[in-house]
Amino acid sequence: MKIIVLNGSPKGKESVTLHYVKFIQKNFPDHEYEFENISQQIKRIEKDEKVFNGIIEKVKSADAVIWAFPLYVFLVAAQYKRFIELISERNVQSVFQNKYTAVLSTSIHFYDHTAHNYMRAICEDLNMKYAEFISAGMSSLSNQEGQNELLLFAENFFNAIENDLPVIRYYSPLKYSNFQYKPEEIINKISTRGKKILLLTDSTDPEGNLAKMTAQFKANFSEEIEEYNIHDLDIKGGCLGCIHCGYDNTCIYEGKDEYNKFFDSKLKTADIIVYAAKIKDRFFSARWKMFIDRSFYNNHVPVFTGKQLVYLVSGPLKQIPNIRQIFEAWAQIQRGNLVDFVTDEYKDSAELDNIISATAQKTIRYADQKLKKEDNFLGVGGMKVFRDDIYGPLRFPFVADYKAFKKLGIFKSYNTKFKIKMVNFILYQLIKIPKIRKEIYNNQMSSQMVKPLKKLLEKI
Ligand SMILES: Cc1cc2nc3c(=O)[nH]c(=O)nc-3n(C[C@H](O)[C@H](O)[C@H](O)COP(=O)(O)O)c2cc1C
Repeated sequence: MKIIVLNGSPKGKESVTLHYVKFIQKNFPDHEYEFENISQQIKRIEKDEKVFNGIIEKVKSADAVIWAFPLYVFLVAAQYKRFIELISERNVQSVFQNKYTAVLSTSIHFYDHTAHNYMRAICEDLNMKYAEFISAGMSSLSNQEGQNELLLFAENFFNAIENDLPVIRYYSPLKYSNFQYKPEEIINKISTRGKKILLLTDSTDPEGNLAKMTAQFKANFSEEIEEYNIHDLDIKGGCLGCIHCGYDNTCIYEGKDEYNKFFDSKLKTADIIVYAAKIKDRFFSARWKMFIDRSFYNNHVPVFTGKQLVYLVSGPLKQIPNIRQIFEAWAQIQRGNLVDFVTDEYKDSAELDNIISATAQKTIRYADQKLKKEDNFLGVGGMKVFRDDIYGPLRFPFVADYKAFKKLGIFKSYNTKFKIKMVNFILYQLIKIPKIRKEIYNNQMSSQMVKPLKKLLEKI
C-alpha cells in the first residue's frame, strides 16, 4: 500500500512526530511511505503552485493519508492549517475524497482533544474515510507501552484499509447563512471610562459582516477605540517550535519582525482585548492561528491577568463548539476573563445591534468590577498539566516558566499546604478505627462539610 504522510511540524526532519511515523515504517516495511514536510515548506507551497500540485499528485496516487502533527496551542500549527485552507481555496478537495485516513499527534496532552476534534472534522469535511487516530505523548515512543500502542494504531489502520471497513462520521457538514448585517446608527454611546480597549481583526472584506460588527462595537463608545488588522502587521512567519524562548522568553524572530514588540506593547497593556475573526473551515483563519502560535514566546506563563476578553465572530460558531472551548480555555489559562462570543448567527440586524451594544456595556461593567470568573475544568485541569510538566520533565528547557510559576505560587499544591497535610494525617489514622469510621461515614460526613458554610450564613 502507498501511504502519504503529511508532517505538520515546522521542524521538518527534526520533528519528534515524524519519528513516530518512521517507527511505524520500520515495523511495517511492506508498505510504501512518502513523506511531505508541510509546515516547514508552507511558504513555498503557498507561493509556488508547482510545489503544491506536486504534493496533491502524491496524495492522488496514495491509498491512504496520515496526518501527523505536533499539538500547537490547542490545535495544529498555523502553517499546517494554511495548507488545509489551500486545499479548498485551490479546489482540490476531490483528491482527498474517499481516501482512508488516520490522524497521529504528539503532545503533552494539553488540549490534544481539541486538535483531534478539529482534524477529524476536517477529514470528514473532505469526505475522507477517517479510520484511526492516536494522540501520543511526546515521550511515549521511548517506552514499551507507547511503542505497542503505536504499532496497534498502525495495524488497525492498515486493517481498515485492506478490508475496506466502514467508518463512523462524527460531524455534520457546516451550514452557512447568507445573513447580511445592516447595522443602525448608535444614539446612546457609552464611555470607556478610561479603559484601554484594543480591537484586533483579520477582516479582509470591508463590506462583510465582520467589518460591520467591529465598526458597530466601536461605535458604541464615545471615545476612539484602537484597532489593528493582523494582516497589516509585519509577521514574518509562524512559530518554528525552536524553544529559543524557553530560557528568558526571547523569540528567535525578535528584531526581525514586529510581532513580539506589538504583543508586549499593545496586548499586554490593554484592559480589554476584542478579537474579531471570521471562521475559516473549522477554526479561525491561519493568519489568526499564526498570531496565536507566535504568542508562545511567553511559554506557559499567564499574560492576560485582569483583562476582559471579547470575541466577535462571523461564521457558524454554534455548529463548532470546539472553537468556543478553545477560547474559553485560553482565557482561563491566561487568567483573563472571557466576557462573551458575539456572532452573526442572527436573522435580524436589530437583534445583533442590541447584542453588540449589550456586550459593549457588559465589557465595561466587568472591567470596572475587575471581574474574573472562577475557572472551570478547562482552566483548572489545563493548569495542572502545565504545573506538573514545568515542575517535572519540562523544567528544562522552560526555565523562564519555572521561575514565573514559582513566583506566582503555582507549585504550591495540596502537597505543600501544611494545614491540609495535618488534617489528612490525623483523619487518615482515625478512620482506621472501625467505630470512628462508622460514625464519620454514617453521621458526620454531610453535616461537617456544610458546617463552615452554615457558620458563614449565620454571620450575615
Ligand atoms: C509552539 C508550541 C505550542 C505547543 N502547544 C501545545 C499544546 O497546545 N498542547 C500540547 O499538548 N503540547 C503542545 N506543544 C508541545 C508539542 O506538541 C510537542 O512537544 C510535540 O511532540 C512536538 O513535536 P514535533 O517535534 O514533531 O514538532 C507545543 C509546542 C510548541 C513548540
